[in-house]
Amino acid sequence: MSVIGFDIGTYAAKATFLSIKGKGPSQVVTLLGLGLAQMPLGVMSQWEEQPLPARQAMSSAMRSLWKLCKLTKGKFAALSLSGDTMIIKKITMPLTTQKELRQSLAMEAEQYIPYPINEVIIDGHILGTDERHGQMSVLLVAARKEVVYNYIQALALTKQLKPAVIDVDSLALYNAYDFCHPDSRDNAILVDIGASIMHVTILYEGSPHTIKEENIGGQRLTEDLEDTFGVSPEEAEAIKLGSSEAPNMLEAAEVVDRVVSNWKAVLERSIEAIRQEIPEFKPTKIYLAGGSSLLMGLVKEFEDSFQVPCELFNPFNNVKYNAKKFDPQYLGYVGPQMAVSFGLALRKVELA
Ligand SMILES: Nc1ncnc2c1ncn2[C@@H]1O[C@H](COP(=O)(O)OP(=O)(O)OP(=O)(O)O)[C@@H](O)[C@H]1O
Ligand SMILES: [Mg+2]
Repeated sequence: MSVIGFDIGTYAAKATFLSIKGKGPSQVVTLLGLGLAQMPLGVMSQWEEQPLPARQAMSSAMRSLWKLCKLTKGKFAALSLSGDTMIIKKITMPLTTQKELRQSLAMEAEQYIPYPINEVIIDGHILGTDERHGQMSVLLVAARKEVVYNYIQALALTKQLKPAVIDVDSLALYNAYDFCHPDSRDNAILVDIGASIMHVTILYEGSPHTIKEENIGGQRLTEDLEDTFGVSPEEAEAIKLGSSEAPNMLEAAEVVDRVVSNWKAVLERSIEAIRQEIPEFKPTKIYLAGGSSLLMGLVKEFEDSFQVPCELFNPFNNVKYNAKKFDPQYLGYVGPQMAVSFGLALRKVELA
């Protein structure tokens, strides 16, 4: 049974709904619905101090998206976490099977998690095994129960949606990439630049190897424009999106350059991190996603700086859709921002 994929960011909530028929090479995936709704500014980043407004904002966004997806009946939902609400870490531990992993993780994870182990939900994914040394590398994911509870409460408030999957932004993006590039063994780099967070997922021979998250997204650029020109957040956003002219173009370009340099530095550090383990690592392609990837000239800037082919990642290029219902031009534009919700919508729920 398919699920509706919700990516609730600090700036916008995004939803994708797909029909998934068949498996493997004969699988047919059709876009049935999508939606994007802006979140009230600052509410999501304040969820801990003020959980109720955050929960209400999430649930009303999910309800409107559910309607935008033209759904009339209750649905299962896949959501994802990122940033300070969870911990994602690559660890080395003694060999076990994927089946026994959760049990062993509970013991191993304690040293990596700054919260009491009974306050978190942990999960893991085996990335690679080293039989000779009896070790394996595992992607450890931990989320505080309080955070997950918050999402479940928000879903309950919608009265139509039930939780099916709680995922992680960067892995949902990888899931979308894997769907678009099945069996790829490339060293691709997936970069999602949202409003608050930049995620980098580096694939080594097709599988996620290094995942990094930093608290710098497009909101920083809006704030810097606000400070530089003494304008309101709305005006700064309009300058950033190119719908309003900056009081001084040269100064605006300098502000953009500074933030873009920070994004490039995050990517540089991520590549350095993987090269600590795999010195010969060479990226084959950079894919940009997230709303801030739409910043004019960003693709070329990354391509020139890293000397690696770079493109916007648009998962809608790989699905069927009714062109009378969905404007191909709009899908072409919004695809990179929808990529995480797309990856979530690919998850399936097995009903007992
Ligand atoms: N055309 C564009 N050019 C530049 N920036 C853009 C454009 N369109 C959207 N953005 C920016 O993208 C950001 C929103 O992207 P996105 O929806 O991916 O963020 P989010 O998922 O809500 O944030 P996060 O994941 O960091 O919490 C905002 O900062 C917005 O200003
Ligand atoms: Mg996001």
